[in-house]
Amino acid sequence: MRTSELISRGKKSWEWAASHMAIINTIISENIAESPLKGLKLGLSLHITKETSVLIIALIRLGSKVSLCSANPLSVQEDIAAFLSSRGVKVYAWKDETKKEYFNNLSHVLSDRPQILTDDGSDLHVMAHNEKILGILGGTEETTSGIARLKALEKDAKLLYPVIGVNNANTKHLFDNRYGTGQSTLYGIIRLTNVLIAGKHIVVCGYGYVGKGVASRARGLGANVTVVEVDPVKAIEAYMEGYDVKRINQVVDMADIFITCTGQKNVITAQHFRRMKNGVILANAGHFDNEIDVKKLCVETDKNYTIKPYLDCFNIHGRKIYLLCRGRVVNLVGAEGNPPEVMAMSFANQLLSILYISRNHRKMQKKVYLVPEKIDLKIANLFLKHLGIKIDKLTQLQRKYARSY
Ligand SMILES: NC(=O)c1ccc[n+]([C@@H]2O[C@H](COP(=O)([O-])OP(=O)(O)OC[C@H]3O[C@@H](n4cnc5c(N)ncnc54)[C@H](O)[C@@H]3O)[C@@H](O)[C@H]2O)c1
Repeated sequence: MRTSELISRGKKSWEWAASHMAIINTIISENIAESPLKGLKLGLSLHITKETSVLIIALIRLGSKVSLCSANPLSVQEDIAAFLSSRGVKVYAWKDETKKEYFNNLSHVLSDRPQILTDDGSDLHVMAHNEKILGILGGTEETTSGIARLKALEKDAKLLYPVIGVNNANTKHLFDNRYGTGQSTLYGIIRLTNVLIAGKHIVVCGYGYVGKGVASRARGLGANVTVVEVDPVKAIEAYMEGYDVKRINQVVDMADIFITCTGQKNVITAQHFRRMKNGVILANAGHFDNEIDVKKLCVETDKNYTIKPYLDCFNIHGRKIYLLCRGRVVNLVGAEGNPPEVMAMSFANQLLSILYISRNHRKMQKKVYLVPEKIDLKIANLFLKHLGIKIDKLTQLQRKYARSY
């Protein structure tokens, strides 16, 4: 496709997403007069989707200069990358990057000397730390796995600048991780395979926010869902929600589809591949591509072939295992990522957190911060307002009662 056609398609997709993310526009309107990010250089590593373009255009409209790379080598939507590039964003990303290209693109973003870093998974933050990049005032992090890495840096007193863990805002993980990823993960699997979900036996590994969403959407489409967990409390939650709860070894030879949502590595390994049913489908919704041991799958099998992009068949002792998206996030590589309505709240958190850092970085320490409660509540109220939903307020008497003992 010609560049002009890509740009035009990207622009229309941006407009479509923006029309479902109205709260971002409200935040722009509230801040644009003072151009709060004027002259500030931002470096972002995010999945380059139409929803992300709404955040990026907002950041530009508030005055910043943006360098952008992808948070995953396979998740770039090229029309969006072309459109953002036409709007002056320095885009270092394309679909199907090799690992080397992916890391080179991260380092291009850092070479532009950004002052605030926004990341999804913390590859950019970790690179900035390893290379001791100077001049960074602060950063934000989008996802559970990225925050875990930053917390590890903080614990070892190695964090070099303050970071706001956007994932942990209520208006982020309760909706994006759960309802957004729940829907888009099933959509990714269906889009790539077109298999009927009704009647299938699906194993969901991990019953955190993502796992809860995935299990509920799989059940809603008629699947029999088994949950695999390591946390006893989460296991009870899944049990009381009516799911079958088992150890992975108890169901490994019975299930039709496995979906990993743990943020852990080696959840599905060679010992499991060897026992799986003929025709089993493997998908991952966690951030990194290490939840399914894909390297071992390649070693253990012969006569592998690709049915279509991101749907690969592995022959193992006469049985077929179908792997989606080479073990990378199925909702972003195999589909379009999370829906704009939930990304409106996630990216409102990003936008307001970036504004917060630009105004408050001098007072902040080298710590992983929660999104300030005021911001979280503001986003919830804005979202309700855009839905046209009004809720009650505590009376003075009730407020007093809540404070009494
Ligand atoms: N695909 C997306 O769009 C998307 C969106 C949000 C988060 N994520 C990613 O999804 C992953 C999960 O995120 P979350 O917010 O649900 O995290 P979470 O911490 O809420 O849940 C993870 C769950 O997995 C369980 N677990 C860990 N190791 C396990 C194992 N070996 N077997 C079974 N269960 C195990 C944990 O006990 C926990 O309950 C992370 O990598 C996160 O970054 C992806």
